[in-house]
Amino acid sequence: MKTTIAEVSKHVGKEVTIGAWLHNKRSSGKIAFLQLRDGTGFMQGIVVKNDIGEEKFQDAKALTQESSLYVTGEIVEDSRSSFGYEIQVKDFELIHEAVDYPITPKEHGTEFLMDHRHLWLRSKKQHAVMKVRNEIIRATYEFFNMNGYVKIDTPILTGSSAEGTTELFHTKYFDEDAYLSQSGQLYLEAAAMAFGKVFSFGPTFRAEKSKTRRHLIEFWMIEPEMAFMDHNDSLEVQEQYVTHVVEAVIENCKLELETLGRDTSVLEKIKAPFPRISYDEAIELLKEKGFEDIEWGEDFGAPHETAIAESYEKPVFITNYPAEIKAFYMKPDPNRPDVVLCADLIAPEGYGEIIGGSQRIDDLELMRQRYEEHELTGDAYKWYLQLREYGSVPHSGFGLGLERTVAWISGVEHVRETIPFPRLLNRLYP
Ligand code: 4AD
Ligand code: MG
Repeated sequence: MKTTIAEVSKHVGKEVTIGAWLHNKRSSGKIAFLQLRDGTGFMQGIVVKNDIGEEKFQDAKALTQESSLYVTGEIVEDSRSSFGYEIQVKDFELIHEAVDYPITPKEHGTEFLMDHRHLWLRSKKQHAVMKVRNEIIRATYEFFNMNGYVKIDTPILTGSSAEGTTELFHTKYFDEDAYLSQSGQLYLEAAAMAFGKVFSFGPTFRAEKSKTRRHLIEFWMIEPEMAFMDHNDSLEVQEQYVTHVVEAVIENCKLELETLGRDTSVLEKIKAPFPRISYDEAIELLKEKGFEDIEWGEDFGAPHETAIAESYEKPVFITNYPAEIKAFYMKPDPNRPDVVLCADLIAPEGYGEIIGGSQRIDDLELMRQRYEEHELTGDAYKWYLQLREYGSVPHSGFGLGLERTVAWISGVEHVRETIPFPRLLNRLYP
């Protein structure tokens, strides 16, 4: 019967057929070890000359990397491999022979691998990272469904900017101007007034001229928005959500984390509550850590975030940033209007900001004032203002950057390996 590598534990002692690709192989005079992959996993096939016959054995030894084949044989337990099973090959049928597969087991440079991303995805490490990504997405839906959130799909083509006008991708919408969405937030605020607790998961676009290990031009964001929740309520949702996701990956991606060489004892410490420090305290901490020139009112860059994160084993919230360096919609602290009720969640180990969130301005007059200060005009914003006209309530929300979260949990250095086809500064291929 036909099965997949992920399912072989159900077929121990039985003969099965698996459609697979040859990932790698090694052989001696009498035995060949085929490293097989079928998309669901990786597994070893054992070909013994005496069992299969001279001719078939020579065919097995001649198989080339990434050739596709049907492999038939008995599933046996194999305590030496962490996967736990292997297939004792009785027969195989070549489907398609791959000639000169470009990504060989030797080391390749990053640009070469990026040019071959469509093939690089087949490698063991990339496979593991994408499985972790998939698990984070699954656990995200699980968490928000469990907690009564409604999934809302927000538009990608928009007439307004959520996060400032400098990083917008501009396009034409027939005769009008349109932009690719930087965030679904403004629409989610409308949805929260209709459904209470909502979340979105979608692609976002930022024309940022940043070439760092944390920046993509196109990335995916998970954005919850909650009516009747204040800033502190939102921080609790954030730490519970992140804890849930990390626990799910530890539980369901054991082999993948092993493939990635990720130290899970580090991840096991990620449990709510997370430490909180104010922006003011962060400035003091940075001064102590040798950033003597930093002044109140400056935004933090990667080196600052990394230095702050070094003091903690868990992600840390930096709260109450100066209003001037944050978005127009954030609610000022009633006790101190020069700072806003917001937080960035900084991941440990130098992975940087994984969440940005805030309580939103719910007062119509103050929102009007912010519009003027930020020179936001036009029909595109009219509807957003109306949300403050009809039954305005305190509400908060946040956005988690999926790729930075995948990078952190997987322990991979650069976000380019955390999305199937990364869009980077100067890269639109493949
Ligand atoms: O902090 P940001 O800009 O927040 C917002 O967009 C809010 N409107 C979200 C909300 O409150 N609903 O972005 C949120 C997160 C960041 O913390 C970061 O993890 C990620 O999105 N992010 C990026 N990830 C990869 N590449 C980029 N260029 C990113 N820019 C932001
Ligand atoms: Mg941010």
